[in-house]
Amino acid sequence: VDLNKDTAQKRADEFKLASAKVGNDVRAMLAESKPEVVCDLTIPAAHAEVTIAALDHGCHVLGEKPLADSMDSARRMLAAAKKNNRTYAVMQNRRFNPRMRQLKRLISAGTIGDIVAVKSDFQIGAHFGGFRDRMKHVLILDMAIHTFDQARMLTGADATQVWCKEWNPKGSWYDHDAAAVAVYTMSNGARYTYYGSWCAEGCNTSWEAEWRITGTEGTVMWDGNDLFRCQRVAQRGEFFSKMEDVVVPPAEPDDRVGQHDGWIKDTIACLRAGRTPETVCTDNVKSLAMVFGAIESSDTGTSVPIA
Ligand SMILES: NC(=O)c1ccc[n+]([C@@H]2O[C@H](COP(=O)([O-])OP(=O)(O)OC[C@H]3O[C@@H](n4cnc5c(N)ncnc54)[C@H](O)[C@@H]3O)[C@@H](O)[C@H]2O)c1
Repeated sequence: VDLNKDTAQKRADEFKLASAKVGNDVRAMLAESKPEVVCDLTIPAAHAEVTIAALDHGCHVLGEKPLADSMDSARRMLAAAKKNNRTYAVMQNRRFNPRMRQLKRLISAGTIGDIVAVKSDFQIGAHFGGFRDRMKHVLILDMAIHTFDQARMLTGADATQVWCKEWNPKGSWYDHDAAAVAVYTMSNGARYTYYGSWCAEGCNTSWEAEWRITGTEGTVMWDGNDLFRCQRVAQRGEFFSKMEDVVVPPAEPDDRVGQHDGWIKDTIACLRAGRTPETVCTDNVKSLAMVFGAIESSDTGTSVPIA
């Protein structure tokens, strides 16, 4: 289904889905085809309308991030999932990166002690064209949701407070702010600092961002690709503690990985088994709250509590 039927037909042709029903009206298509699961791949502004229609038709929904384009829409979507006893899960594919799983395991094992500070740096010069070039808060709403969600996964904590400043750098090809810095207080007392730009030309980071995670017993760094560096305290007592290098252990067989594909397979497996998916809306809304807290802080110039 697409508002533009030709677009939907082209996609059906691309995947040689000769028997696929094609249309431009979600509600009509839901009534006609009665699916069990709907994948909402529309633009953020359409997520609430499409997902609520699908939930009200008794479908589970696998939706693209962000969960919603406002907290009000998010609340309506969560209420629709609850009322219909259906699952709405959100595509946070970066959790399913094998390096993220390794990092999470290392932190959970206590290798660097208790987390006290997390920093992520996201610098990409993305010339999309399309809706993003015109979108307000484009970096925070359309991209930083991934990075914020990664920060929640890595710290195992939720944000309680944020200060944020967005701006549109000189030379930006976006209509609105495409760069931001934000500092979060997390529920475990750690501070999480986000720095990002979607119009950074040159020396780009990976889409997963570059990370430095400092604990009471050491630090781990990840370049967002394949490179880790980890050191932990071997001995204290001098001006600098004596540090030892730590090799980040490989992913385990039961780590659920595979980016988009991995997330889809894992979420469908959860639905079949009656388990709650990792990125169910009732949890993912806490990542979305980091987005709208940051936007409110940037708009008002104040530090904002996150419920
Ligand atoms: N997880 C990821 O890695 C990732 C990557 C890219 C995009 N996304 C997300 O996917 C979503 C779509 O992004 P995109 O780049 O594919 O956008 P796009 O503009 O290329 O495609 C969106 C399509 O949705 C259609 N549409 C809009 N409103 C609709 C409605 N009410 N009913 C039916 N169709 C409707 C549009 O006609 C368009 O064809 C966004 O939420 C974006 O954030 C996620």
